[in-house]
Amino acid sequence: MRSKGCGELRSKDISTNAELCGWVDRCRDHGGVIFIDLRDRSGTVQITVDPDQGAELFAIAEELRNESVLHVSGLVRPRPNEAVNKKISTGEIEVLAKALKVLNPVRGNLPFNVSIHDDEPVKEELRLRHRYLDLRRERMNQNLRLRHKTIQTARRFLDEEGFVEIETPVLTRSTPEGARDYLVPSRVCGGDWFALPQSPQLFKQLLMIGGLERYYQVARCFRDEDLRSDRQPEFTQLDIEMSFMDQAQILEISEKLIATIWKAIKGLDLPTPFPRLTWNEAMSRYGTDRPDTRYEMTLIDVSEIVKDMGFKVFSNSIATGGAVKCITIKGGNDSISNVRIKPGGDIFNEAQKAGAGGLAFIRVREDDAIDTIGAIKDNLNDAQKIQLLKTTNAKSGDLILFGAGATEIVNRALDRVRQFIAKDLKLISTEKDNDQWNFLWVIDFPMFQVNSEENRLEALHHPFCAPNEIDLGQDETAWKQNLPKARAKAFDLVLNGLELGGGSLRIHNSSLQKQVLETIGLSSEEAKKQFGFLLDALDMGAPPHGGLAFGLDRIVMLLLGEESIRDTIAFPKTQQARCLMTNAPAVVSPHQMQELYVTSTWNEDEE
Ligand code: AMO
Repeated sequence: MRSKGCGELRSKDISTNAELCGWVDRCRDHGGVIFIDLRDRSGTVQITVDPDQGAELFAIAEELRNESVLHVSGLVRPRPNEAVNKKISTGEIEVLAKALKVLNPVRGNLPFNVSIHDDEPVKEELRLRHRYLDLRRERMNQNLRLRHKTIQTARRFLDEEGFVEIETPVLTRSTPEGARDYLVPSRVCGGDWFALPQSPQLFKQLLMIGGLERYYQVARCFRDEDLRSDRQPEFTQLDIEMSFMDQAQILEISEKLIATIWKAIKGLDLPTPFPRLTWNEAMSRYGTDRPDTRYEMTLIDVSEIVKDMGFKVFSNSIATGGAVKCITIKGGNDSISNVRIKPGGDIFNEAQKAGAGGLAFIRVREDDAIDTIGAIKDNLNDAQKIQLLKTTNAKSGDLILFGAGATEIVNRALDRVRQFIAKDLKLISTEKDNDQWNFLWVIDFPMFQVNSEENRLEALHHPFCAPNEIDLGQDETAWKQNLPKARAKAFDLVLNGLELGGGSLRIHNSSLQKQVLETIGLSSEEAKKQFGFLLDALDMGAPPHGGLAFGLDRIVMLLLGEESIRDTIAFPKTQQARCLMTNAPAVVSPHQMQELYVTSTWNEDEE
């Protein structure tokens, strides 16, 4: 139907005939001549409709509505000098229409403008409800194409490295990754349920036991969890597993993959190896296991200095096993007012949202003299002041904010405050060409964390991560005792404060796997019931193996500079895990429920 894409025509095509198809981006009537901007995915071109070319042709153009689908035959000719538009790639030419055919007119009202000339922000709800129109807009069209290029680059790289792309089942058993499962009732096996995979974790391990050695998949994962801008209930992982590789080798090949993607998409040579930080260091210096290292303001533990100063909030926190930590805000004395850090202020609120009671603070005035509000000042003696300034590296004009209490809460609060202030003080460059890509491996995660609601240990990543042998000890009898405090051979890739991926070496010894499952509270019967197939397989020649998964949507989001992964997914779901376009999830017929042996206890009033 067409000889070229609209956006592909150039001066060299002058005097040739063009057959074009596309959407009417806009029409302008310029005193008897109608200009149509015709758009397809390659761009737009100006179509000129002159009444001299026939009344019938002109009548069609007069009736055109934006977004109607049009076929145009015409002659490519130069634009008059004064009409040349250097901003668009087809700006030197136009197409004089010889024939117009409306392939499909727009009938209803368009809910929003699609035109490239229209960059009015459209409410996301409208965009999602009419996603097909939103996809037609330049932004989403470009985003999906960049996503495609990212996936293709990864595929090519992994193919060259000898990885095999393998699909794993979507109807499966629960794969524990810490979220709730999406369940599917079985009609044939009445009363039984499939779970949609939270990740292909167990299958990829079984592929290693199956001798594939190097696997990858662009894998759809399903997690019923609270949604945020970087989380979808249905998302895509670039999932990788390999045999006979140690942690250093896995990190190295993963860095190569990421560097290859950044080179292909951004044209950048990322410096490798990426920095590495242990989980302990990350928590201590940033209060989080996914620190944004684009700015300083690290957390400093000052418990030792302040413990005896007689300030109750501090001494009580330390006496009860907690900590006093602080961040130093350079120039904060001027840039941050008291109102903002006292109760009711925006910075105070951030700390409070993270569970902290409040923030203590010290302003370092002229001559490095400490001038504080309230109790801290009166309690600090000169030696403590000097020590404090030295430890925090605070100088005249700086502001020191303190968090005191249980270490976990102090970390959480100061992490949140640190991020908030970095945004507020614009410590991160937002200039397009000045992107900072601070990749970081966080390594040596603990195997377990305490689930205080259920009063038990739970796996920090998942229960298939291998513990560090140094912590575990050689002796099987020591495992039980050492496991709860052992580090895992697990790692996360963090970029600018966002977790891009995570992985680990896996357990390939069935006794150790049983011991780990027992540590998280699974009886041996339950372990056998849920993971018997894995335990059996581990006893049949499981090779040492490990791997990781990247959040593909998140990678694409960062490459694009978008703020939500919804803008990287063709048909995403809302915060309520709904598809606004199809209205899924939806009620099903009583007959279907019956066939599936399912009854509903849903009560509208409970909503
Ligand atoms: P993990 O649970 O860390 O590891 O997931 C890997 C990466 O997937 C992305 N991710 C998400 N992206 C969008 N929406 C979500 N709801 C969501 N949840 C996770 C993150 C994360 O880093 N089986 C292990 C990997 C392994 O050990 O090999 C796993 O799934 O970017």
